[in-house]
Amino acid sequence: KKVVLAYSGGLDTSVILQWLRDHYQCEVVTFTADLGQGEELEPARVKAQALGVEEIYIDDLREEFVRDFVFPMFRANALYEGEYLLGTSIARPLIAKRQIEIARATGADAVCHGATGKGNDQVRFELGYYGLEPGIHVIAPWREWDLNSRERLLAYAEEHGISIEGKQAGGGSPYSMDANLLHISYEGGVLEDTWTPAEESMWRWSVSPEAAPDAPEVIDLAFRGGDPVAINGQALAPHDLLARLNQLGGEHGIGRVDIVENRYVGMKSRGCYETPGGTILLRARRAIESITLDRESAHLKDELMPRYASLIYNGYWWSPEREALQALIDNTQGPVNGVVRLKLYKGNVIVIGRRSETDSLFDDSIATFEDDAGAYDQQDAEGFIKLNALRLRLAARRGEHKDR
Ligand code: ARG
Ligand code: SIN
Repeated sequence: KKVVLAYSGGLDTSVILQWLRDHYQCEVVTFTADLGQGEELEPARVKAQALGVEEIYIDDLREEFVRDFVFPMFRANALYEGEYLLGTSIARPLIAKRQIEIARATGADAVCHGATGKGNDQVRFELGYYGLEPGIHVIAPWREWDLNSRERLLAYAEEHGISIEGKQAGGGSPYSMDANLLHISYEGGVLEDTWTPAEESMWRWSVSPEAAPDAPEVIDLAFRGGDPVAINGQALAPHDLLARLNQLGGEHGIGRVDIVENRYVGMKSRGCYETPGGTILLRARRAIESITLDRESAHLKDELMPRYASLIYNGYWWSPEREALQALIDNTQGPVNGVVRLKLYKGNVIVIGRRSETDSLFDDSIATFEDDAGAYDQQDAEGFIKLNALRLRLAARRGEHKDR
């Protein structure tokens, strides 16, 4: 038996590594992904080596993550429950995919993750595994073992000579955190009381709006086929562009949210998120779509968006319905080209301009309040309104709504 473990190098997954060997007498392959979480990954290699792992995979997935997962999701303008930009949700399907690829390459028959039995992440990982490799054996230690407290875990680590210092998730932070190029999340700790405000020291990527510069910063974001391609005229690769937006947003206190969300498993959960670049991107995408998308295409996308966001949140990236929705969404994006000008100011992203040389549907000769030189015949509106009113008049004549 051979298992591919999604390994962070932290305490939890190091204990899992040892536990897998004790419990299943199996060989363990570790896989650590660089998704732009901003942590050194070499320590994970050193630690895996120290634990006697022979096959160690450390992959830089930043470009693939942003190009093939984050940007396609943003084409939908996806937002879960009106607030959450899905930073963790969108990373899981890629980790699952790579784990399955490594299982195939190393001849492993099982995969393992360190998500608990109470959350969304277990669902996302495992739906991904099964969707890509139907016969795979899945191991979820948190649902199987009895190390369900910090002390038990530490005791187990001590017993088996696993170093408990160095990198833990969040570097000893009191929160359960998850970071990648799209966001950083915080759950647990004092946040478990929904009335307790987050401490200012918790936030790692952004200054508070109060501490942000008094001078606004204006940026131009250019789009091609619905995806952002340049900042202030400088073309950037997807992952570099998102990293730059994170930096700009962070400096101006943009993208913090503090929410209670509905987990797929049924419970409500309090979480804080920093998504500086994603917050700018969403606002800018809506602005460029406002001039380049046909009204009904845009409204259809908006109706489907909550559905799409739930699919992503619940872990159905690798599903036929996500692919069908994606095809529809992508089909609308051809003309989404142009530039949006934004002002970043103390936690706000303010759109101040948008234009598309090639694909704007905005026609000032039609929309003008001045003389339109015959571009639009106002008399056409009379028939338009009358026919739309026809059924209202018939209903009124029959005596409906007598109370009005
Ligand atoms: N609640 C968020 C989500 O479900 C964040 C989860 C963070 N995961 C973690 N392992 N800390 O997407
Ligand atoms: C976990 O339970 O492992 C993290 C939280 C979540 O998956 O929702």
